[in-house]
Amino acid sequence: MISQQLKILFACSELTPWIKTGGLADVCGSLPAALKEAGKDVRIVLPGYHSVVQNIPAPEFIGLIELPLGTVTLCRSELQGIEVLLVSHESFTNRPGNPYMSDADRPWADNPRRFALFSQAAVEIAKDRTGLDWQPDIVHCHDWQTGLVPALLTLETTRPATVFTIHNLAYQGNITMAMYHELNLPEELIIQDGLEFWGQASFIKGGIGYADRINTVSQTYAKEITSKAFGCGMEGLLQHRGDKLSGILNGVDTQTWNPATDKHIAKTYSLNSIADKAINKEDLQKSINLTVDPEAIVFGLISRLAVQKGIDLIVDAIDKLEGQNFQLAVLGSGDSELQAKLLALKKKHPTRVAIEIGFNETLSHKIEAGADVFLMPSRYEPCGLNQMYSHRYGTLPLVTRVGGLADTVIGLKDNPDTANGFVIDSANPVSLYQKLTEATELFQSHVKSLNTTDPSTWRKMQQNAMQANYSWQESALRYCDLYAEIVSVS
Ligand code: ADP
Ligand code: GLC
Repeated sequence: MISQQLKILFACSELTPWIKTGGLADVCGSLPAALKEAGKDVRIVLPGYHSVVQNIPAPEFIGLIELPLGTVTLCRSELQGIEVLLVSHESFTNRPGNPYMSDADRPWADNPRRFALFSQAAVEIAKDRTGLDWQPDIVHCHDWQTGLVPALLTLETTRPATVFTIHNLAYQGNITMAMYHELNLPEELIIQDGLEFWGQASFIKGGIGYADRINTVSQTYAKEITSKAFGCGMEGLLQHRGDKLSGILNGVDTQTWNPATDKHIAKTYSLNSIADKAINKEDLQKSINLTVDPEAIVFGLISRLAVQKGIDLIVDAIDKLEGQNFQLAVLGSGDSELQAKLLALKKKHPTRVAIEIGFNETLSHKIEAGADVFLMPSRYEPCGLNQMYSHRYGTLPLVTRVGGLADTVIGLKDNPDTANGFVIDSANPVSLYQKLTEATELFQSHVKSLNTTDPSTWRKMQQNAMQANYSWQESALRYCDLYAEIVSVS
């Protein structure tokens, strides 16, 4: 019998504003609040990372949980009215920095153990065996770090229904069989229809194979991942589970990403005061040591430095723009080779390229507000959030027609009336260079039009962009429908 208010346990490894490496954190930081608004009782379970427990008010101790992989401490905290259950263990709590990687840009060697342990804790909470007296109807898991949860729950005699959201299929949490056995994880699960994956054991396959529903973060990516080109070896299983697979586009946190109220930017603005965007452009140019020049087109990039994001293509294409009046503002961290390529580009074009390596919330807002074009020539993009943030700031995204980018960005050739960005059909340096040039020309005619009364194509595109509605409300309702489907059958 399902209680009236559906209880949902969110199991995730990142949570904005507490711990973030990418969009997963933003989604887990805002979807629960939207679900609460829609009448659901949501709690979140998160690893008790060092940087989290150090930076929030002391959480309330609930108890110790004995798990096959060790003993963890369960504590309770709160984020924007949502209860957050923190699973602390020395492998999380005593390790500052990035949740998954060492400073040397290598995954922590014990990640499989850490996230298997976290998943075991999530299962105990899901079964109400931790003294909380709260039995979720649904456990909603995110990405490989929680992929074991739906699998482990199938070994229980009764269990809540499970949803598994794929934010990025390329990160799979695959381990050797030897390591699987070393972790003493259940033998029953290591079968071809289970966690076994080309002779290895795959955490993400636990989510994809065993959850009652699988979804991903855009409709186009949901289709793409059933193909060989985007399926990362999971396409067969995803085809097989096609009737349980759907796509729900992410929303964005419209309070945090709002140019009309943004505390990080030099001058707030909205559609009616879009001319004030120029003040933010000047502020950005000053703060990252670029020449203050309103006529230079500023390309912005805020990204994990990963092959996925087409950073190498950007370096190639920007290098060829020599002679055009452009600037590039980059904020990113990650892959050291891509970092080196970017720094070499800066060395070659010192007055036109500015790069900050690291994670910087304030600068990310300044780039969104100050850039003219936001670059996302991704090779694949499950959803992508920055193109939507960019729209809200009247910054036109330049994207590849993949995943969530295809679902949100419209080019002039697609529809001149509703165009809100620039789209290339495939991620390659030639197409990117051509599109950068096209954007630069369009921007130059916009600059010329500023002294006339004619609104430019650029301005019209900015207006289209700023009018888009990306609030979480709509997407939260789609999740509610998904939950309703499985609680009525489980
Ligand atoms: P992904 O999750 O694949 O990295 P998304 O576009 O979904 O890509 O989300 C990325 C999120 O991380 C955005 O909120 C973006 O602003 C943020 N981000 C990425 N790199 C940085 C950085 N170096 N500093 C600040 N924010 C960053
Ligand atoms: C992943 C994807 C990104 C998506 C984010 C949030 O990190 O790479 O496209 O927006 O998750 O769902």
